[in-house]
Amino acid sequence: MSMIVVTDLVKKHGKATILNGVSLRVERGEVAAVVGPSGGGKSTLLRCINALEPFEAGSISVEDLRLEAEGPAKPAKQLLLELRRKIGMVFQQFNLFPHMTALQNVMCGPRYVLGHSYTQAECNARELLKRVGLQDKGASRPDQLSGGQQQRVAIARALAVKPSAILFDEPTSALDPRMADEVLGVINDLAKSGQTMIVVTHAMRFARQVANQVHVMSAGQIVESGPPETVFNEPRHDVTREFLSRTN
Ligand SMILES: Nc1ncnc2c1ncn2[C@@H]1O[C@H](COP(=O)(O)OP(=O)(O)O)[C@@H](O)[C@H]1O
Ligand SMILES: [Mg+2]
Repeated sequence: MSMIVVTDLVKKHGKATILNGVSLRVERGEVAAVVGPSGGGKSTLLRCINALEPFEAGSISVEDLRLEAEGPAKPAKQLLLELRRKIGMVFQQFNLFPHMTALQNVMCGPRYVLGHSYTQAECNARELLKRVGLQDKGASRPDQLSGGQQQRVAIARALAVKPSAILFDEPTSALDPRMADEVLGVINDLAKSGQTMIVVTHAMRFARQVANQVHVMSAGQIVESGPPETVFNEPRHDVTREFLSRTN
């Protein structure tokens, strides 16, 4: 069974159609890169998968959970709670809780979503900070950390609930190249460990090296999908050619 299946998704804002029939399948252990010009609907797609946005038509499944187009009923609270445990999200702007230390940021999901004890959550959070190379930064608040360090804390926080999949929305776009490399290194390690991920990115070299599948999105549609060597070396769609010529 595929881990994430998006079928004929349609999302509108007022009269504007933002996603116009998007279908996407992500297998367990797969890294899917979503690339394409700004405004194409990449963030909106991730937000729909994480139930941060309702949608007008189509459906989304994450393992055994199913989100339907907005009908009379909103998704049940229980469904949303289960989805939050299955999907971690990492944003361009890190979105850490500013008043909490790095350790507290990583602990809060297990404490409040999973109901873990303080001791268990702390032990797990220390392990995760070590995994992202920040074992000595547990007591630091976000404003005491560099952008690259904050993003690595955000990744540790996303991992803390042991999600089935993690969605990354341009995780390195706000970082200078050296810090971007630190963060991409962590994402690469996760890929090697078999973590299922969807990564929206402009880092083409990374997409080429780490992704199993690349999906090119433009004007609310996926115009081309395939393994990176095919999409990058033999692009079939004008949008892909144009996009690659500007990013390489
Ligand atoms: N809340 C909103 N209301 C109206 N339009 C929106 C809203 N959010 C996004 N859009 C529009 O949807 C389109 C896709 O946006 P987005 O998903 O952010 O694209 P990307 O992430 O590929 O740059 C853009 O034209 C954007 O202006
Ligand atoms: Mg975006």
